[in-house]
Amino acid sequence: MTIRKREFFCLLTVFQLTMSAVFAQQRQITEVAPGVKKITIGQTDQFSPYSFCDEKPQVATMQKLPAGKLPFNVNDIAINITDRGVLIEIPLDDKEQLYGFGLQIGSFNQRGLRKKPVVNDNPSNDLGYTHAPTTFYVSNKGYGILVNTSRYTTFYCGTTAKNVNDVKTAAQSNGGNSVDELYGSKGSAAGYVSADVPGAKGIEIFVFEGPDMLSVMQRYNLFSGGGALPAIWGLGVKYRVKADFKQDQVEKMAAYFRDNHIPCDVLGLEPRWQTAAYSCSYVWNKDFFPNPQNLIDSMKQQGFHINLWEHAFVNPSSPIYGQLKNKSGNYLVWNGLVPDFADKQASKIFADYHENTFVKQGISGFKMDECDNSNLNYGSSTWSFPEHSRFPSGLDGEQMHQVFGLLYQKAIYNVYKQNNIRTYLDVRASSAFASSYPAALYSDTYDHNEYIGMVVNSGFSGLIWSPEVRESNTVKDLMRRSQTAVLSAQALYNSWYLQNPPWLQINKAKNNDNELMADAKQVEADVRKLLNFRMSLVPYLYNAFAEYHFKGIPPFRALVMDYPQDEKVFNIADEYMIGQGILAAPLTEKADERKVYLPAGTWYDYNTGKKMEGGKEYTISTAFTDLPIFIKEGTVLPMAKPVEYIKPDTQFEITCYVYGDKATGNLFEDDGTTFGYDKGTYNNISLNYTGSKGKAARSGSFKNKRIIIKKWEVVK
Ligand code: GAL
Repeated sequence: MTIRKREFFCLLTVFQLTMSAVFAQQRQITEVAPGVKKITIGQTDQFSPYSFCDEKPQVATMQKLPAGKLPFNVNDIAINITDRGVLIEIPLDDKEQLYGFGLQIGSFNQRGLRKKPVVNDNPSNDLGYTHAPTTFYVSNKGYGILVNTSRYTTFYCGTTAKNVNDVKTAAQSNGGNSVDELYGSKGSAAGYVSADVPGAKGIEIFVFEGPDMLSVMQRYNLFSGGGALPAIWGLGVKYRVKADFKQDQVEKMAAYFRDNHIPCDVLGLEPRWQTAAYSCSYVWNKDFFPNPQNLIDSMKQQGFHINLWEHAFVNPSSPIYGQLKNKSGNYLVWNGLVPDFADKQASKIFADYHENTFVKQGISGFKMDECDNSNLNYGSSTWSFPEHSRFPSGLDGEQMHQVFGLLYQKAIYNVYKQNNIRTYLDVRASSAFASSYPAALYSDTYDHNEYIGMVVNSGFSGLIWSPEVRESNTVKDLMRRSQTAVLSAQALYNSWYLQNPPWLQINKAKNNDNELMADAKQVEADVRKLLNFRMSLVPYLYNAFAEYHFKGIPPFRALVMDYPQDEKVFNIADEYMIGQGILAAPLTEKADERKVYLPAGTWYDYNTGKKMEGGKEYTISTAFTDLPIFIKEGTVLPMAKPVEYIKPDTQFEITCYVYGDKATGNLFEDDGTTFGYDKGTYNNISLNYTGSKGKAARSGSFKNKRIIIKKWEVVK
């Protein structure tokens, strides 16, 4: 039999199609940790977010979580590899609600939306662009899906309709002539979420089982190595000084804080501490800081930690430029190299330099700026490396963008870890599997509502978010923003373009002209009150972070994570839980009142002690110097006598506030500054009130007492 050329090619195509169909169906499903399944198919990328995760899954704790059950068979996830890339379709039922995709800025419940989680510094139009994108969503049916890719991926969250045989005709589906009928039939409810990963030749998908959303997140965080436990001083107040401050101005600012008894643990230096900042030299600018070691040491004596601003684009004048020249991408940013952090050697050069030059000298942390990307299609900003960049490791610019912040954090965090020093970093980009990095995200965007929304969303992605305070429209605005900052993972004032603290002058221009507000001292006193509250809350927050580390429970969570059955919380994006017993409902300058929904159970207004029945909505107003928080019945809320800063030997004097006839709470005690806790050197203090008496029971092997229980007070 002879086969002509054309027939041969036809046969070849059939053969190829058959092979690709066979190939496409070959998937491997493995249980990689208790309740975590991995589906692998095709030729997967060498570098994916998980490939960079060196932290070990906390298997023993994961085993103790209640067993989860998927609402579908894992084999029902359809995966197709085509010449476009990989298309994944995950079953979705009519009632399901979806959350996540990283630090989303403008949306909360993602059901019915199309999201493209792409790293970006000024996320616009709610397309999915964010400082910290994750290709990970969680369903209220109790499971999570993570597409392990650093390629730009689009998720259609139940928004597509296929051209298949049973599609109704237009006439049938419109059904009537009223406007309601006309538009009512517009919606198309797909029975699946589809994820489109262009360019991929294969894919890995992680499926996290529940049984509920909280356990999904626990599994995810524990799988990523356990949540971050920042240095305890990091939970105090951070103040970043103006970008062009000199050494004596920093010293003056430090004195201002101490003289006026305004709590502050960390002073952050902004760009001008370096000889070159855009791009970075990582060399002290001696004109501005003649004696950096003196500064670090004298600040330490006064109880301040110094944090240095930088980014990762390496200036030609930098001592590490030569070593990194051939270990960087083929495009420059601000004339600086873009180190190939996917290459362990490049990371090591960068990390070693930081270790020897800064960490050993006593620098307590870094602000890792500019590691996101500029607006892709919106706005005028065009900095950062292009998507078509190439890196020696093999990554292209798109993939590098998605993981650049992740790898930057990892490089710096590991320096501290290897030196057995804990830290609390700032970072402007992150990604999946970052739960164990003690790095708070921040943003130049400044919409207060969006800031609150990001606190709520952070819990769905193992991220830490700090809504910073800068200038303000009104004193009310300043106070409301300060309340939110105090009720977040990091209490941060970012005065990088302000001469004076914003509470002395809210207006940027006047502030920089040293024209202080007439009532500056009163506003200062009001802010002091809020910051003192923050310091009182530190032991409680620290315990919430310990629960994040050891149990994977996000310290800041949407209500729907704790109350997944309550339909009324499905779309609440402006209230959140802090730790086990506090519900926060921040106000903005827009109104003096707001609505608060309290889920089923009994709650107490923190400010008045008033008992409130849950399952209902209330209208609340909160004074500037109070906090809009509600305490869940059954909680022992341990509040410390405020200190101005946290020393290695600070003892927290605690009053236990009891909410309800029977109540429990917990405190975590360790040195707060080393990784001793990972070797078991810590105590748990369980707080129990059983009707008439409070009892604190300490267990563990940490020898020094940092927690002193002073008294118990029943809130009636
Ligand atoms: C921005 C950063 C600001 C500030 C500034 C200094 O990119 O978000 O917080 O640090 O750089 O140039």
